[in-house]
Amino acid sequence: MTTLVTYATKYGSTQEVAETIAASLRQQGIQVELLPVREVNTLSNYSEVVLGAAIYAGRWHKDARKFLRQHHATLVNLPVAIFALGPLSDDEKAWQGARAQLDQTLARFSWLTPIAVKMFGGVIDPSKLHFPFNHMPAGDKRDWEAIRTWANELGTSFSSPTTLKPVLENTTPANITG
Ligand SMILES: Cc1cc2nc3c(=O)[nH]c(=O)nc-3n(C[C@H](O)[C@H](O)[C@H](O)COP(=O)(O)O)c2cc1C
Repeated sequence: MTTLVTYATKYGSTQEVAETIAASLRQQGIQVELLPVREVNTLSNYSEVVLGAAIYAGRWHKDARKFLRQHHATLVNLPVAIFALGPLSDDEKAWQGARAQLDQTLARFSWLTPIAVKMFGGVIDPSKLHFPFNHMPAGDKRDWEAIRTWANELGTSFSSPTTLKPVLENTTPANITG
């Protein structure tokens, strides 16, 4: 079986994180397919799904939300790991705010019990943005070591159903961290 790593992106930074997660999983011997959410038609070939998207104006990218709605019936029976990109500074409040924004979105999908939920720092490249957003300061808060570490943890649980099961059983919205 294959793990699907799928992502929604506007400016490419989430895609690069998804690529790194896919590469880390492959290094662990896991078969991975990497696709933008818009190109996923069926989940029938996959044993796990890793879904990532950025937060924009307080909401997780609409394509990621659409993906959850579209594939609800299959996802309810699959291990799903979620990641998001957002914070543009090291300020703890920015991280808490972004996490709250993601949690609010996920709470609308009450049937979804992710095995992991993780927030990563985001990217601003003003040259890719239109006015007035092109006045935002440039920055890249992605921590590649943290991204690879998270992917390795996922890979360990994917390749060992005995570790996956307790994670699934114990994961509730209240104790999801990251
Ligand atoms: C117009 C705009 C609005 C944003 N709004 C938020 C937000 O509400 N919360 C947040 O945590 N990050 C926000 N971000 C940061 C993005 O999540 C970050 O830039 C991310 O890396 C973009 O991902 P992408 O390159 O895959 O599209 C915003 C970025 C832009 C350009």
